[in-house]
Amino acid sequence: MNEQQGTYGPAARVVGMSLPPQRTDGPYRIHLVCLGNICRSPTAHVVLERRVADAGLADAVEVTSSGTGGWHVGNPMDERAAATLTAAGYDATRHRAAQYDTAGASSYDLVLVMDESNLADVGGRSERVGLFRDLDPVEPGSAVPDPYYGGHDGFEEVLTMVERTTDAIVAELRRIVSTRAPG
Ligand code: 4NP
Repeated sequence: MNEQQGTYGPAARVVGMSLPPQRTDGPYRIHLVCLGNICRSPTAHVVLERRVADAGLADAVEVTSSGTGGWHVGNPMDERAAATLTAAGYDATRHRAAQYDTAGASSYDLVLVMDESNLADVGGRSERVGLFRDLDPVEPGSAVPDPYYGGHDGFEEVLTMVERTTDAIVAELRRIVSTRAPG
């Protein structure tokens, strides 16, 4: 095991570390997970996809998302989540909810979930599974709180923590994928 691999134990947090290396050719595949896939992970999905594109990495990074529950499969984003994103200048119209597929999860380079309950539902931490906010520069290792049963403020808070954490993730992605991008 080399030094870099050695920083990843089964119980390690991604926090303060580089992201796990890419496992196959093709894009670096990031999958974002929450409970319903209509509020938090879609917000993170839209923001990360946009900032990846702004960084010139659209061809090098693939972002997808799902929910561990299947109640909303095929539905667009929660109206409050969509309104919060739209007001901030993002395109929230393309999202359709999907359910987390345990069998397909091994194909991802990185699975980032929103809270500890999601983490338990996907089988716990591993080298490639952690909390989205492990990379939050302000409160690393915290949950993205579920805004579904709360008011509008909760959606604003989610977007704020998602945006700053996304910037940290994109900074890491630049480092990881730039060495692989073709000339
Ligand atoms: P999300 O929020 O996990 O951030 O998409 C929720 C959406 C729907 C439900 C719970 C959380 N629900 O119980 O239907």
